[in-house]
Amino acid sequence: MQETHVEMTVFEAILARRCVRSYTEQVVSLDAIHILLEAAIHAPTALHEELWAFAIIRDKQLLKDISDYAKPLFVRELQRTGHTPGPFTEPDFNIFYEASTLILICSKQTGPFVVADCWLAAENLMLAACAMKLGSCVIGAALTALNTPDIKVKLNIPEEFSIIVPIILGHPNGKTPPNQRRKPLILTLTS
Ligand SMILES: Cc1cc2nc3c(=O)[nH]c(=O)nc-3n(C[C@H](O)[C@H](O)[C@H](O)COP(=O)(O)O)c2cc1C
Repeated sequence: MQETHVEMTVFEAILARRCVRSYTEQVVSLDAIHILLEAAIHAPTALHEELWAFAIIRDKQLLKDISDYAKPLFVRELQRTGHTPGPFTEPDFNIFYEASTLILICSKQTGPFVVADCWLAAENLMLAACAMKLGSCVIGAALTALNTPDIKVKLNIPEEFSIIVPIILGHPNGKTPPNQRRKPLILTLTS
């Protein structure tokens, strides 16, 4: 396996994880992907139902094709909600930032807890990636496109599955410095 595992506490990984938007050409090994899926499926799961499923896309041309398909759909969403299109109208902009891998966390069932399960799995995966010196980023901008019948057919994802979380993955090109957050807004703190 090419990826190295860094010893860090969970809290250190939480603080170190950043969305990475610049990647090297180096591909993520299959061994590493299996470790990350193992981390994902150990997330809490409502009623212990484990209703998640995964799709892994490592074909860069296919990722570029999906990016080209997704951008105009996302621009329409941005315009509908009063946002500016930003880089999404630029022909060379890749919605997946040229990452070598896209992992889709999917589910067949609907319901509030299924979505929660998938997002918890996503965070486990991203923290584990961070501890393996891999970069990751949720790509919500691709969600509408990924859930279209056309793309599901392209990706061999059965129609009854919904894609809940798209996460890109790769070897970071440089460092992303730690992020600042506002202090938590505490509404109640009882004795
Ligand atoms: C639901 C969700 C959707 C996101 N979609 C995108 C996206 O489409 N493109 C992108 O570059 N970052 C996306 N992000 C990453 C956020 O922009 C990022 O988490 C935020 O700026 C905080 O930065 P940090 O994760 O490095 O702390 C998304 C994050 C979440 C939670």
